[in-house]
Amino acid sequence: MKLNIAVLPGDGIGPEIVDQAQKVIDAVAVKFGHEVKYTNALVGATAIDKVGNPYPDETHDICMDSDAVLFGAIGDPKYDNDPKAKVRPEQGLLAMRKKLGLYANIRPVSTFPSLLDKSPLRLDIVEGADFVVVRELTGGIYFGEKGRSEDLTKAFDTCTYTTEEIERILKLAFSYAGKRDKRLTVIDKANVLATSRLWRETAQGMEADYKDIEVDYMFVDNAAMQLIQWPKKFDVMVTENMFGDIISDEASVITGSLGLLPSASVGIHTSVFEPIHGSYPQAAGKDIANPIATVLSAAMLLESLDLLDEAKAVREAVNQSLEKGVVTEDISKDGKAYKTSEVGDWLAAAIK
Ligand code: IPM
Ligand code: MG
Repeated sequence: MKLNIAVLPGDGIGPEIVDQAQKVIDAVAVKFGHEVKYTNALVGATAIDKVGNPYPDETHDICMDSDAVLFGAIGDPKYDNDPKAKVRPEQGLLAMRKKLGLYANIRPVSTFPSLLDKSPLRLDIVEGADFVVVRELTGGIYFGEKGRSEDLTKAFDTCTYTTEEIERILKLAFSYAGKRDKRLTVIDKANVLATSRLWRETAQGMEADYKDIEVDYMFVDNAAMQLIQWPKKFDVMVTENMFGDIISDEASVITGSLGLLPSASVGIHTSVFEPIHGSYPQAAGKDIANPIATVLSAAMLLESLDLLDEAKAVREAVNQSLEKGVVTEDISKDGKAYKTSEVGDWLAAAIK
C-alpha cells in the first residue's frame, strides 16, 4: 500500500517525538512492504515565526491531500505569558480542527502493567482501568461568539451546540461503546447549562437505537471525582469540547505519565493523530522527551487505514520496550534512562 502522510511537527519537543514515530512507521513499511511518502508542513509558533500564520493555507492543502496527519505539539512560552498577543500558536490547532472538520477527539486510556507504580493513584484503583474519552472538538465554548466590551472591563465566551453537532459525536461514541464493553457515560452539566440539557435530551432520544448499550448520565464535577476514585467503572465517556479537554487531561495521569497517551481526531476530512501532551518547551532539543504517546498515535493512524497487523506490531514493540525498561527518564526505574532517539531506534529495530 502507498501511504501519503502529512507531518506537522510543530513546536517544542514536537519535531523530536515525531521523528521517532516516523522511524517506527518506516520500520512497519519495510516489514510489511508499504511505501510511505511524508510531506512536512508548518504549524503553531514555528509557522507564526516563519510565515506569520499558525495554520497556513499551504499546510491545510497538504493535510487535505494526505491519507492521515501525524502531528507533534504546539505552544511556545513566549505566547503563554502575553495575553495581548495578536496571533497564538493554539489558534493554529483550532483552525486545523475546524477546517478539517475534526469533530471528534478520541483519547483511549489504559494502564501498562510495568508502569502501574508510576501512577499517583493506588495500584488497586488503577490496575485494569481501560476507557476511552470521546471529546467533541469543533463546537461549544471554544468556537462560540466571544468578545470584550469597549471599556475592556467585560469579556464573554459563548457556548453553543446544535442537535446535529451533538448527534454526530454521540453516534460515534455509541459505536465505540458497541465495540467495547457496551457502556456509555454522557458527561454534562445539565443541572445548570442549556447546552448540556440539549446534549442530554439528544442522547436520551438516541438510546432506543442502541438498545445493547447501557447509558448513564453524570454531571462533569461528579465525573471528575469518580474518575479518580473509581476509574475502572468507565468504558466510553462522551462530552462536549471544554469538559472533554479537562477530563482527558485528568484521565491521562491515571496511567502514570502524560507521555504515554495517544489521540486521534476524526471527522469530515483527513484525520489527525497526535500525543495528548503539549510541546514541553523545557525539554525541547534535549532528546529526553517520551516518544511513546506519538508512537502510539502512529499505531492509531495505521489502524485508521485498516493496517491492523501493522498497528499491532507497533503496540507489541512498545509493550516490549516498557517491559525491558528501554524508556525515557520520566518513566525509568533503576536510574537507567534512554534518550528519545534511542527509544525510537530500539522500537524500529524491534519491529523489523
Ligand atoms: C488539547 C489542548 C488544546 C485544547 C489547546 C492547546 C488549545 O489542550 O488538545 O487538549 O484545549 O484543545
Ligand atoms: Mg487539553
